[in-house]
Amino acid sequence: MNHCGTRILETPRLLLRPLTMDDAQMMYDNWASDPAVTKYLRWEPHPSWVYTAELLHEWSKHYADPAYYQWGICEKDTGVLFGSLCLGPGETDPVWQQPMWEPGYCIGRRWWNQGYTTEALCAVRDLWFTTVGGERLACCHAADNPASGAVMRKAGFVYHHDSVYHKFDGAEVPCKVYLLEK
Ligand SMILES: CC(C)(COP(=O)(O)OP(=O)(O)OC[C@H]1O[C@@H](n2cnc3c(N)ncnc32)[C@H](O)[C@@H]1OP(=O)(O)O)[C@@H](O)C(=O)NCCC(=O)NCCS
Repeated sequence: MNHCGTRILETPRLLLRPLTMDDAQMMYDNWASDPAVTKYLRWEPHPSWVYTAELLHEWSKHYADPAYYQWGICEKDTGVLFGSLCLGPGETDPVWQQPMWEPGYCIGRRWWNQGYTTEALCAVRDLWFTTVGGERLACCHAADNPASGAVMRKAGFVYHHDSVYHKFDGAEVPCKVYLLEK
């Protein structure tokens, strides 16, 4: 594969770009502190914007790695940052028996149901299959989080099987696994 790192991507309404420590306040305010956003994610809401800043500092060390993909999702017109989208090897699923590259995404509640995540995912999907030369992407969502499944289907992913994923505290979550092949 020809990994190209977190390069800036533009869509009709969005700018996808690397995150920096200067984004801590917007990330904390717009999505990372909201329990409704993290309900089906592996992590818990951030306790403070300082915590967010420390996390962004850790992430910033990885951007030199061409196989590191972690975008902030911004409104193109205003520059407002309202979500993030990453791409990386996921948890090994018993059906795949190997780590599969998977996108992960979350955006602030104010921006839900306006097609933004689908728009961002399609841009990253296209980068993956055209520029990076990937052959497939997997993706999974909590069974109780159908909006995420809708995003996957709109981006072309096809339901593959049921499974479980694990939150960072070890809790098991039943999930639906999707696959997209070149
Ligand atoms: C899931 C999430 C990423 C969706 O982002 P979004 O920008 O609102 O997604 P889109 O607007 O592109 O598409 C959402 C779709 O879900 C549908 N949807 C919303 N709520 C739904 C529900 N309760 N049941 C079924 N479908 C639902 C919408 O109707 C829309 O589909 P449509 O365009 O066919 O009408 C966003 O809600 C989010 O960040 N949630 C918190 C984090 C998260 O759960 N991330 C995913 C982890 S796998």
